[in-house]
Amino acid sequence: MAKVRAAITAVHGHLPEYVLTNQELEQMVDTSDEWISTRTGIKERRILKGEGLASSDMGAEAVKGLLEKRGIDPAEVDMVLCATATPDMKFPATANLISHKAGIKNAFSYDMNAACSGFLYALVTAAYHVESGRYKKVVLVGSDKMSSIVDYTDRQTCVLFGDAACAVLLEPTLEETGVMDHKFGAEGSGWVHLHMKAGGSLKPPSYETIDAGEHFIYQEGQQVFKFAVTKMAEMSLDVMSNNNLSADDVQWVVPHQANMRIIEATGRRMNISPEKVMVTIHKYGNTTNATIPLCLWDYEDKLNKGDNIILTAFGGGFTWGAIWLKWAY
Ligand code: ACO
Repeated sequence: MAKVRAAITAVHGHLPEYVLTNQELEQMVDTSDEWISTRTGIKERRILKGEGLASSDMGAEAVKGLLEKRGIDPAEVDMVLCATATPDMKFPATANLISHKAGIKNAFSYDMNAACSGFLYALVTAAYHVESGRYKKVVLVGSDKMSSIVDYTDRQTCVLFGDAACAVLLEPTLEETGVMDHKFGAEGSGWVHLHMKAGGSLKPPSYETIDAGEHFIYQEGQQVFKFAVTKMAEMSLDVMSNNNLSADDVQWVVPHQANMRIIEATGRRMNISPEKVMVTIHKYGNTTNATIPLCLWDYEDKLNKGDNIILTAFGGGFTWGAIWLKWAY
């Protein structure tokens, strides 16, 4: 009997309207369009403006658009998984709020957090639910309001991040498409290089933590950079060799969009030509859990059924991994 696989059958993103350009950042911190462009590849990023708007609002817009696109009634959705590093609240899960705002009533929902690798970890988790045969329509949304944890006086981090959400629908298929294989890893000692110091159970919020600016992203960029380049390429090559895929067999690589230099180095190490590597970093920056699905959304009309796609990410934790996906439509 053919194996039940989990196929991505739709993708839809949501981008906040406000465009924060490098030129505007030049007015805010000691930086330049030239530095940001050459060191990161980013030209602009979106920022969610407006009182009372959070990751769930962007996530719900992405999910509503996704269901409309496929003509699916929200009542048909079985499960909603949200990958986020910036949940609306510590609890309840942002996925619960997204379900509520998108009118999804018959699903169970929860969040996953693996920083920038979260979407890939959650994609495999969602796929296992579909492969079990029990769940027919699973929505996975990556949503991050990174502007809520960025210090706009810190030039080292404020130029990097943007806000966005993007959702995919997973459905069972008996065809040889969908999530085919993956390889993941994590190294908890890496936490020192990339974290948010306060706001958790280690250091609950206090006047002192706020005065010390400890509710923002803390990143030692160069340490993270070195790990990211090594791990994204290593995992991708492992997944390819485990499945006898050569560079020629791969139509697309979708790297997490953290830095153009990391994206290019990953492609080079994989021996994949640049035109097969998806890039959106110039217009959206690093949107954490939304970068990979946003690439799929941006390139959707260039994808063909059966395309071999390698998704790869690296993030805080440290966490990393790669997935071999066969495009289903
Ligand atoms: N504008 C101008 N100068 C700057 C800026 C800026 N925005 N930011 C830093 N600089 C300066 C530094 O102060 C430093 O100056 P100095 O030499 O006088 O001390 C100089 O530029 C070089 O700084 P580096 O940190 O060495 O620059 P680098 O080339 O490493 O680039 C960057 C920094 C962009 C952060 C890079 O290290 C990077 O992309 N790291 C990886 C990020 C990443 O992948 N994160 C993982 C995902 S995030 C997540 O999981 C939430």
